Amino acid sequence: PTSTAVGPDGAVSLGGVDLRALAAEHGTPAYVLDEVDFRRRARVFREEFGRAFAAIGTEVDVYYAGKAFLSTAVARWAAEEGLRIDTATGGELAVALRAGVPGEHIGLHGNNKSDAEIRRALDAGVGRLVLDSLPEVDRVAAAAAAAGVRAPVMVRVTTGVHAGGHEYISTAHEDQKFGLSVAGGQALEALEAVLARPELDLVGIHSHIGSQILDPSGFTVATRRILELRALLAERTGHLVREVDLGGGYGIAYLPGEVPLDPAEVADGMAAAVAAVCAELGTPVPRVSIEPGRAVVGPTTVTLYTVGTVKPVVVDGDGDGDQQGPDGPAEDDRTFTRTYVSVDGGMSDNLRPALYGARYSAALVNRAGGADAVRARVVGKHCESGDVVVHDVQLPADVRAGDLLAVPATGAYGRSMASNYNLVPRPPVLAVRDGEVRVLVRRETEDDLLALDMG
Ligand code: LLP
Repeated sequence: PTSTAVGPDGAVSLGGVDLRALAAEHGTPAYVLDEVDFRRRARVFREEFGRAFAAIGTEVDVYYAGKAFLSTAVARWAAEEGLRIDTATGGELAVALRAGVPGEHIGLHGNNKSDAEIRRALDAGVGRLVLDSLPEVDRVAAAAAAAGVRAPVMVRVTTGVHAGGHEYISTAHEDQKFGLSVAGGQALEALEAVLARPELDLVGIHSHIGSQILDPSGFTVATRRILELRALLAERTGHLVREVDLGGGYGIAYLPGEVPLDPAEVADGMAAAVAAVCAELGTPVPRVSIEPGRAVVGPTTVTLYTVGTVKPVVVDGDGDGDQQGPDGPAEDDRTFTRTYVSVDGGMSDNLRPALYGARYSAALVNRAGGADAVRARVVGKHCESGDVVVHDVQLPADVRAGDLLAVPATGAYGRSMASNYNLVPRPPVLAVRDGEVRVLVRRETEDDLLALDMG
């Protein structure tokens, strides 16, 4: 986060709060979120996309994708910075509503929405339900009729663009569960089905191509395909869809030296693509919306852990049981020592390394540490060997039990994908700002877990 500062004794503070003091008062593990950084990142999206699209004569709505991390405070901050909220479930919708976000500034996604979720969204007067299948056209129309309202809907389409940091989070190629295919014709079919239902108000066409995207060219291709679909629909039905949503997916830096996507650059590129394709097709420029999650909250947060066991392990680098090959030891025998540093959390507070092979870094934050470094792997406390927090990192050789480690860039899909594996209570989310700590989500307790156990 931007407010990181290192004191003369090597201790690190965030938002003006010494992390040692924070750990002493609130315990570890804990997610520590820099509120000023969150607000700034939200504002950058609104301002940069607003600027780029104003230049081509249209407006942008930025929806913060709550799946990355949502609490009522965060939803309010996003709203105060001019963002709307994108939700994917009844739970996320409930938090956004509890935060006081007006229904018309909330969107609801989901490839398998329940009847209750659809009803709740209509009751709340959400600004858009994003339809993900043909049967959903009828289901939402029926629910709208029953509620006596006209439902604002978008149709989520798959543009055939394969983008993103991992197979599990690429979402717009053909062989996956989301959206309706542009190439296969189902997208057009769904749009026409929506137009045929008076209970449905077709607000727009939606495309989300993947997550942790570092090459923006996929956005350009997707933009072209959905604008062509919009023009085709207009030609066939006379209805010109007023809005297109280009989704989220803006990649961030997880490791030192990685270069995140620059929102300003992507905004300029997207706006240029929208203007060029609309000019080519002879259609007016639509209103645009986007749904960043990770890029707003990911870099704002570090996870703070306490070191426990430190264990050097001799690693046979080439896995050959230390047989020397014909080329001799220099080529074949790469035995080295890896220091396993165990911390008081793990895959229950950050599933991403185990699930996606995601790489993180870590730093000692309670003191400067000695000059010598060791090759370390930071691991959790769970009972499986895939429970890795940081795969490979240089740490001071004198790292020891009681030290504090911070793992940066854990704000997105950290707490939101946390679990109670091994019946570990989930860590709190603590916001820091101007030297103050505020508990956004409190630490779970064993009593919380036992309260669910009905005997
Ligand atoms: N809009 C839609 C329709 C989405 O499905 C997503 C993410 C977003 C927006 C926000 O994407 P973002 O800007 O955060 O990349 N758990 C995975 C990421 C899954 C993303 C799912 N959809 C991870 O930890 O990498």
